Amino acid sequence: MRKPDPCVLVIFGASGDLTARKLIPALYEMRAIGALPEHFKVLGVSRREKTDDAWRAELAASVQQHAKRWDAERWAEFAKCIHYFAGDAAQTAMYSGLEERLRKFDEESNTHGNRLFYLSVGPELYESIVQRIEDAALVTEGKRWCSINSSERSWQRIIIEKPFGHDEQSAASLNRTLGRVFEEEDIYRIDHYLGKEVVQAMLVLRFANTIFEPVWNHRYIDHVQVTAVETVGVGNRTAFFDSTGAIRDMIQSHLLQIFAFVAMEPPTAITAEDIRAEKIKAVRAIRPTTPETVATHGVLGQYGKSADEDAYVDLPGVAKGSTTETYAAIKLHVDNWRWAGTPFYFRTGKHMAKKCTEIVVQFKPPAANLFPGIPHQSGKVLGNRLVIEIAPFQQTRLRFESKVPGTPLSIASVEMQADFDKQFGVEALEAYGPLLIDAMRGDQSLYKHRIEVESGWAAVMPFLDSSSATIRKSIASNYAPGSWGPAAADEMMARDGRAWHNE
Ligand SMILES: NC(=O)c1ccc[n+]([C@@H]2O[C@H](COP(=O)([O-])OP(=O)(O)OC[C@H]3O[C@@H](n4cnc5c(N)ncnc54)[C@H](OP(=O)(O)O)[C@@H]3O)[C@@H](O)[C@H]2O)c1
Repeated sequence: MRKPDPCVLVIFGASGDLTARKLIPALYEMRAIGALPEHFKVLGVSRREKTDDAWRAELAASVQQHAKRWDAERWAEFAKCIHYFAGDAAQTAMYSGLEERLRKFDEESNTHGNRLFYLSVGPELYESIVQRIEDAALVTEGKRWCSINSSERSWQRIIIEKPFGHDEQSAASLNRTLGRVFEEEDIYRIDHYLGKEVVQAMLVLRFANTIFEPVWNHRYIDHVQVTAVETVGVGNRTAFFDSTGAIRDMIQSHLLQIFAFVAMEPPTAITAEDIRAEKIKAVRAIRPTTPETVATHGVLGQYGKSADEDAYVDLPGVAKGSTTETYAAIKLHVDNWRWAGTPFYFRTGKHMAKKCTEIVVQFKPPAANLFPGIPHQSGKVLGNRLVIEIAPFQQTRLRFESKVPGTPLSIASVEMQADFDKQFGVEALEAYGPLLIDAMRGDQSLYKHRIEVESGWAAVMPFLDSSSATIRKSIASNYAPGSWGPAAADEMMARDGRAWHNE
């Protein structure tokens, strides 16, 4: 695998939670395994004044808390590449000083004019910072050639955090702004779910085996469930959550990306272009939900009061009478040859019975039942089922029917399990680390393309806009904390003759 290029990682939002809790601990872990470039600098940008040393001390405390292991000497060595620049990224005035600092790095630390900008600020600042980067000529077509050594090509790339837009129009607007300043090949729309091992393992499971691909289609698969649920409520993020909701926060971003890996056709090769081309086709094949079908294809909910937390609608920071969903279940169809007639169900929720992110592939029953009247331990044949658990455990489980030893003949469902953590004896890396390294290597395989983002928004908009009024009204406290969500979600599945995987 190609080593990442020398570069400066410029983090806008250096004083923030994401930088301290995820980005810097992930970089520290990457340094520990020798994955960072030899010539590498981090330059954090935020408004509050602080020195390099003060920022390093703050980050040291956070890394001790959030990295997998702590080594004071290793940190001291790594911290030398971390620097701070105080300034308001929304104001043009800051950028000449920033550019000077970056040039100095190039001269002193051989970072070759390569810049990886990371927007770790609130989404309201994204377009304004991109515009300032352009105004300051930190990226121009001509500047793709390194100013230090003109025989060597330099690059400027940008990583954009979620949320990427608030709806279809705002996502398209952000894409247009980005496209005016950066080439698509230099725009990295991050989804940390794609940095998780098991999501990438989906490519290997599907395309490095012969036994799954022949049955990976509507002829053999009855339906697919993609679930990400958690046991905690919204906590102190009420202001953010109330203007976002579960669909925007989880389904539009993470779950549709997982879907793309499950539904895509085999890429010609494992390259970013080929993988993204197939993911784009899968997301574009999602059948638009019409206003008439929203009510039968979606269920929204809000958790009620628990022993230690008020009902969502009564929390401080939540608008009076808010109809923002803390739970959402939606059904989407994919109009292509592979998936015609096989629905995908997406489900996410707060304060649920279990914390879990998983993909459930439910296969159809055999074409003919050769065992009528034969007792089954579960009362009936349950059908083959592949469960790909992404979190909290990384494992894949395949259920199949088996004869119970002895006589008379009886049948039971059994499970084969591959536990990634146990099998390979290695801890999964924090998702941000490998994704950052990919961006430094110019590998966009695990980043979203503009069309994926916009098609994703198009798929969920009917569950968010005025078409969702019928499923949004009277959702206050329609499910109990610690349950599996509103009864209507079970009814939606029951109408289709199916049930959620609540195990
Ligand atoms: N936190 C997470 O786990 C997480 C996960 C996924 C996505 N995200 C996304 O990542 C982004 C950052 O999240 P966060 O939780 O780290 O937010 P945060 O804690 O609010 O941090 C953002 C930082 O940006 C700085 N900032 C604000 N305005 C600025 C300006 N004009 N110029 C320069 N710096 C400015 C602020 O520091 P100063 O006051 O010093 O300027 C602030 O500390 C958000 O878009 C969020 O949606 C976060």
